[in-house]
Parts: sequence; structure tokens; C-alpha cells
Amino acid sequence: MNASDSNHFAIAIDGPAASGKSTVARLLAQRLGLVMVNSGAMYRAVTWKALGEHIDPHDSAAVANLLHRIHIDCGHDGISSTITIDGVDPGDELRCEKVNANVSAISAIPEVRAALIGLQRGFTQHSNVVMEGRDIGSVVFPDTPYKIYIDAAEEIRAARRKAAGEVDSIASRDAADSSRQTAPLVVAHGATRLDTSDLTIDGAVDASIEILRHQGLKV
Ligand code: DC
Repeated sequence: MNASDSNHFAIAIDGPAASGKSTVARLLAQRLGLVMVNSGAMYRAVTWKALGEHIDPHDSAAVANLLHRIHIDCGHDGISSTITIDGVDPGDELRCEKVNANVSAISAIPEVRAALIGLQRGFTQHSNVVMEGRDIGSVVFPDTPYKIYIDAAEEIRAARRKAAGEVDSIASRDAADSSRQTAPLVVAHGATRLDTSDLTIDGAVDASIEILRHQGLKV
């Protein structure tokens, strides 16, 4: 429907770290029978690979060079997206402290974004998707009518991350993701904001479906 020769559509879910966007995207995809694509996992996988090769995440030339040497394979299992690099699935390592601390630097590199955006758009050649990230409504699928910006108060987001047992400086990651030059986190044109601070998970999914109905999705 946009940015590709596709007949399929994308629902774009963007927002800061731990805003609830992954959970909402996953449950929305389940309810609507769509594939959930976690674009952050793609930036995390490149970060995991760079760290494994002892590449400085701030050395954009070295990271761009790495991209030419590796094979990133994106797919889905019918429910959510999958990713391997050179045939290896990084699994739980995608959410380790070191990846959390370095993923914003890697995702600020224009060559990384260009490579991953192409792969992200590729999903709609075969499937209708709910894709979550930071620039899905603004850059990856700017023409989709279905866009939600999910937010929550910072202390609530930090508490959610801690409850999940993760070490993650969400404030510094948000600052970096919002201030980078290429595709910063913004409320995309046409997106509806949803604050999940006081919502249950089911409440957030119900509210998202209502937003999508208003945006014209037949659900
Ligand atoms: O959604 P997440 O927290 O797993 O994302 C990890 C990082 O990846 C995030 O801090 C910024 C980057 N990212 C991005 O730049 N663009 C996206 N569409 C998704 C994630």
C-alpha cells in the first residue's frame, strides 16, 4: 500500500521504550489475525553482531562495513517476526544489558537504518502486519492510514522495565532515539496518541482497536 509494490497493509505502532507498544502490537496482531513485526529486534540483532565482533558501536564506518559482510534473514512464524544473522538466532541475547546500552548508537547510523528499512518494508510484500518501532509511521510506512503513537509516563515505563527484570536506561535511550539526525522518534503525521499509563493491557488493546476503527480499518 505504500513504499513498496505491495497489496498488503501495515499498522504502525511507535513510541518510546517500555511504553507498552510491543505488548499492544502483539495482542493487536493476535486479535486481528496479522503478523507482528518487532523492528527493534532488528536493530538489536545488528548491535548484538557488532558487539560480538568487538566493533565500536560509535564507529559508523566499521558498522557499515559489517553490514556488507553479514547476511540478515527476516521472516515470520505466522504470528511474529523472526531474525537470524549468518544463520544464528540471537534469542534472549537481544535483550541483554550490553545490547540495551549500545542499540541507540547503532540505530543512529544511516547505513544501518537504510538496510533495515528495506527489510521492514519487505514484510508487506506477503503479509498484513502490525509493526512496532520508532519511525514506522514517519519513515517506514508514511502513507499508511493506520498509525498509533503509544506513550506512558517515564516513571511507569521505568517500573515496567524493572519488573521485566531488565537493566535498561530508558531515559538515555529515549533521549538518543529522539534527538538523532536520521529518523528520530516523533509522533508521525496522522498518528493518534495513546497514553497507556493508567490503562490495563486489555484496555490499551481495546483503545487501539477503537483508534484504528476511526482511522478506517474495518474491524
Ligand atoms: O523497541 P526496542 O526498545 O526493542 O528498540 C531498541 C532500539 O532500537 C531503540 O532504542 C531504538 C532502535 N529502534 C529504532 O531506531 N527504530 C525502530 N523502528 C525500532 C527500534
